[in-house]
Amino acid sequence: MPSTVLVGAQWGDEGKGKVTDLISGDYDFVVRYQGGNNAGHTVIHGDKKLALRLIPSGIMYDHITPVIGNGCVIDPRVLINEMKMLHGEGISTDKLVISCDAHLIMPYHIDLDGAAETRLGKHEIGTTKNGIGPAYKDKAARTGIRVQDLLDEHIFREKLETALSYTNLVLGKVYGMKTYTVDEICEEYLPFADVIRPHMAETAQLLNTALAQGKNILFEGAQGTLLDIDHGTYPFVTSSACCAGGACTGSGVGPKAISKVLGISKAYITRVGSGPFPTELKEETGDLLRDVGGEYGVVTGRKRRCGWFDAVIARYAADVNSLTDMALTKLDVLSAVDTIKVCVGYEADGKRYDYFPMQHSALYPKHVKPIYEELPGWKGQDITGCRTFESLPANAQSYVKYLEERVGVPMSIIAVGPDRDQTIFRGWSSR
Ligand code: GDP
Ligand code: IMO
Ligand code: MG
Repeated sequence: MPSTVLVGAQWGDEGKGKVTDLISGDYDFVVRYQGGNNAGHTVIHGDKKLALRLIPSGIMYDHITPVIGNGCVIDPRVLINEMKMLHGEGISTDKLVISCDAHLIMPYHIDLDGAAETRLGKHEIGTTKNGIGPAYKDKAARTGIRVQDLLDEHIFREKLETALSYTNLVLGKVYGMKTYTVDEICEEYLPFADVIRPHMAETAQLLNTALAQGKNILFEGAQGTLLDIDHGTYPFVTSSACCAGGACTGSGVGPKAISKVLGISKAYITRVGSGPFPTELKEETGDLLRDVGGEYGVVTGRKRRCGWFDAVIARYAADVNSLTDMALTKLDVLSAVDTIKVCVGYEADGKRYDYFPMQHSALYPKHVKPIYEELPGWKGQDITGCRTFESLPANAQSYVKYLEERVGVPMSIIAVGPDRDQTIFRGWSSR
C-alpha cells in the first residue's frame, strides 16, 4: 500500500511541518517515528501559526489518525501542554494515538542534558536541552522507562528504582546536582497515566492492520539526515534515526510498506547548534538569509546558521534515504540575493570530494573549501504569488532544474512562502 516517509534532507527545519500539512490530505495516518520535543514544526492553521513539537502535524484534520510511534521519546509534561495548546485553538486531540513502547523523558534526563553540555564546554553539541540524548541513552542501556510502565505503579517504581540507583550517583557525585527520590517522581508522573491511557496503543499492530485494510500512512520525520545518529555529522547530531529507515524501526512497519520517500530541503541550508557546516556564510549574506528567511528556532529562538545549498549533502541525503522526490522550500527567500552559489564538491587538504567524505574532519572549516558554481538570481522579483512553475522568473526555473540535475531527484513540490497555498505542485503524487 502506498505509504510515504517525509524526511529532512539537511540539518532540520527544512519546512517539514508545512509540507506534512500540505500533503496529508492523501493519508489516513500521520506518524512521528523518532525524536521528541526537540522538534519544532511550524504549521499555519487559518491565520494562526502553530509550533508542534511532539504531536504529528496531521492533528489538524478529522480524517487523520495522528500517531506518536515507538521510536519517539515523550516528555509527558510537554505532551500534555501541547494537547492543551491545541484544545485552546479548537483542535481536538481525541484521535491521538501514543505507542505503549515509546520511552519517557524523565526529569533527570533534562538535568543530565544540561550538565553534559556544560561539561563539554567549547565542544558542546548545542542540544535543545530537552533531555533527548539522555533518554535515548537510557533506552540503549535498557534502563529506560516506557509509556506502558505508567499503567502499573509497581513496575514503574521498580524500573525507576533501578534507573535512579545509577543516575543519582551521576547527578550527585559527578555533577554535584540534585538527586531524586522514587516517591517524588512517582507523585509527579503516575497521574499522567490518566491523560495518556486513553491514547495508548500497540501502534505496530494498529498500523499494520491499517495497511492491510488499504489505508495510507505518512511518516513525518523530525530533525534531518545530517542530524541522524548514524548518518549525520556525528557527534553533532541528535540521538535518533531521523533518516527514512528510522520510519520502520520507529513504527513497527516493514520497508515493503513504503513506496515514496519525500526529502525536504531549503533552497539554501541552515543549521542550529554546533558542528561542521561547509557552506556556512558568516558574513552579510548569511545575515541577509537569516533575516529574510526568519531563521530563528521555533522553540528555542536560537539564531540558525545559514549557508548556500550544498549539493554534496543533497546527493548524500538522496542516497541514504532512497529519496523518490524532493520538496524545495523557501525559494522565495533567494529573491533577496544577487547571485546564487551552489556547492558542488569540497576541496580539503589537497583532495577533491564529490561525495560525502569518509573522514568527517574534511568537513570542518580548518580543512574544507567548498567548490561553488554560480547561478544568476532573480533579485527583487517577488515570487510568493507564483502558483505554477512556468510563472516563476526564468532564473528561478533554471535554479530548480539545475538543483534537480545535480541531486538526481525530481523536485516535485516547491514552496514559495510559509502559507499552505504558497506552493507549486510539480508532479507530486502520493501513489
Ligand atoms: P520544520 O522543523 O522542518 O517543520 O521547519 P520549521 O517549522 O522549524 O522551520 C521552517 C520555517 O520556514 C517555518 O517558520 C515555516 O513557516 C517557514 N516556511 C516553510 N516553507 C516556507 C517557504 O517556502 N517560504 C518561506 N518564506 N517560509 C517558509
Ligand atoms: P526539527 O524537527 C534543527 C539539533 C540541536 C543540536 C542537535 C542535538 O524542527 O527539524 P538534541 O536536543 O536533539 O539532543 O540536539 O540537534 N536539533 C535540531 N536542529 N531542527 C530540529 O528539529 C532539531 N532537533 C535537534 O540544535 O544541534
Ligand atoms: Mg523545526
